[in-house]
Amino acid sequence: MKLNELKIKNFRNYNEEHIEFINGINLFVGNNAQGKTNIIESIYMCAFGKSYRTTKDTEIIKFDKEFCNIELNYEKNNTFNNIKLNLNKINKKEITKNGIKINKISDHVGDILVVIFSPDSLDIVKGAPGKRRAFIDMICCQLSKSYLIIHQEYMKCLKLKNILLKKDIIDKEYIYVLHEKMSDYILKIVNFRNQTIGKLLEKAKNIELSLTDGKENIDIEYISDFINLNKYEIKKYLDDHLYIDILRKSSVKGIQRDDINIYINNMEVGKYGSQGQNRTALLTLKLADFEVLKDEKEDRPILLLDDIMSELDSTRINYLLKYIENYQSIITTTDSSFVENVDNIQILKVLNGRLEK
Ligand SMILES: Nc1ncnc2c1ncn2[C@@H]1O[C@H](COP(=O)(O)OP(=O)(O)OP(=O)(O)O)[C@@H](O)[C@H]1O
Ligand SMILES: [Mg+2]
Repeated sequence: MKLNELKIKNFRNYNEEHIEFINGINLFVGNNAQGKTNIIESIYMCAFGKSYRTTKDTEIIKFDKEFCNIELNYEKNNTFNNIKLNLNKINKKEITKNGIKINKISDHVGDILVVIFSPDSLDIVKGAPGKRRAFIDMICCQLSKSYLIIHQEYMKCLKLKNILLKKDIIDKEYIYVLHEKMSDYILKIVNFRNQTIGKLLEKAKNIELSLTDGKENIDIEYISDFINLNKYEIKKYLDDHLYIDILRKSSVKGIQRDDINIYINNMEVGKYGSQGQNRTALLTLKLADFEVLKDEKEDRPILLLDDIMSELDSTRINYLLKYIENYQSIITTTDSSFVENVDNIQILKVLNGRLEK
């Protein structure tokens, strides 16, 4: 796939801008707080219908304005598509694709394939389990519409169960009925996560070895209470733990507790790895994510690289530049010195919410 053109109006610190992308590196260069990440965010919003920086949609509207628009034109399987996101202050968000309103975002996620890599991404290696789950779920959702729907349904059940657990009188029968539904969702989610992690690991092994001259071996282990359980065993497990849920007034078991462990040469890298090892592991995971999406969807994802060149040493920058040579990428940076001798690049300067070539 290829992004052709982005138009934004009243988005973050931009009034009105229009960008035509090239099918190579699109580099946004500028000092801090000029609007580089905002460009990445606007593209991400077209892919997922929401921001990764805020849960409050209205924050993206320019401070003194009432509404904002994002429009992205892209090419996929030789057809031209247009996605428009309109938002006004009373929080009415409308997304259309080729002029037709998207009612369920699950119908659209996975159409614009992106892999995003920003300084915050290091949390995947170093941060809490939720960051790793979000990483895996983002890949799973882009790979499968039904995964996203099942995940949403599971989260609705979980929310309801947690409300029931906070009541003075616990309606156990109702919770057992919820467990029945949840066990079905858990089975599907765990199987899909397990499969996806397997594919990710296969790709990651080769990337990590080439990034480290064969010195480092990566392993990824999926941690879940439900691996290899059937639906009835999952239901029983949930029922058996209900007494703890009641004591804690919250669900203690479920796929919302899953995690992945990442090892380098059999050592848990998030806990014991050096800064360089953590960054290498992250770069490996992101490129493996890219390759899994590329293979499974038979399409070329877009790489969104936000301010990561300053995080990487020259060996890794060179590896990354060589890697992205054949793909389309959107890169932001404060220092563009790394682009000498790079072909197929368009450089745009970002200055206080304005762009210039
Ligand atoms: N709703 C908004 N309205 C107006 N300006 C906003 C809004 N939201 C954020 N901004 C401003 O947008 C500016 C640019 O943000 P952005 O994160 O894109 O900067 P950046 O160029 O990526 O900087 P850095 O190099 O520090 O990461 C910031 O100064 C921020 O205060
Ligand atoms: Mg930024």
